[in-house]
Amino acid sequence: MADLDILIFPDDRLRRVATAVTDIDDKTRTLVSDMLDTMYAAPGIGLAATQVDVHERIVVIDVSEKGNEPLTLINPEIVVAEGRAQHEEGCLSIPGIYEQIERDEHIKFAAIDVDGNPYEMEAEGLLAVCIQHEIDHLDGKLFVDYLSTLKQRRIKKKMLKHEKE
Ligand code: NI
Repeated sequence: MADLDILIFPDDRLRRVATAVTDIDDKTRTLVSDMLDTMYAAPGIGLAATQVDVHERIVVIDVSEKGNEPLTLINPEIVVAEGRAQHEEGCLSIPGIYEQIERDEHIKFAAIDVDGNPYEMEAEGLLAVCIQHEIDHLDGKLFVDYLSTLKQRRIKKKMLKHEKE
């Protein structure tokens, strides 16, 4: 079991755009397993490779109550999106901050699993929110980007203050 370090906002490395995975090998599988360990230990319900300073399009998610339904999304893409809904979001890279964010309500996404098999899945509610949040990470985007400039500035200040303490 390996616990990886999670980058904390406003770290510039969270802004890097991840590249597509071309080979799913032992290195990928080890990374996915370490990412799941790190997510469960945090504890969190989603983690993007970007957050552990690996700039490849890999996401792990588990929104189940017992934390026993891990999902791995390699090169995920949203193929259908319908409706809009607001949910409260947080992020392991922005600890202690929770805000209402509007996103697509129902989505269908395509991805590759850890064994290299492509799959498609529909999602709504918390899972849909989580997938959009994590795909944003792969594009160097954070949920605070959707907030007003004033709010963003306040959050940044708070995070930098925590860092010094
Ligand atoms: Ni996040």
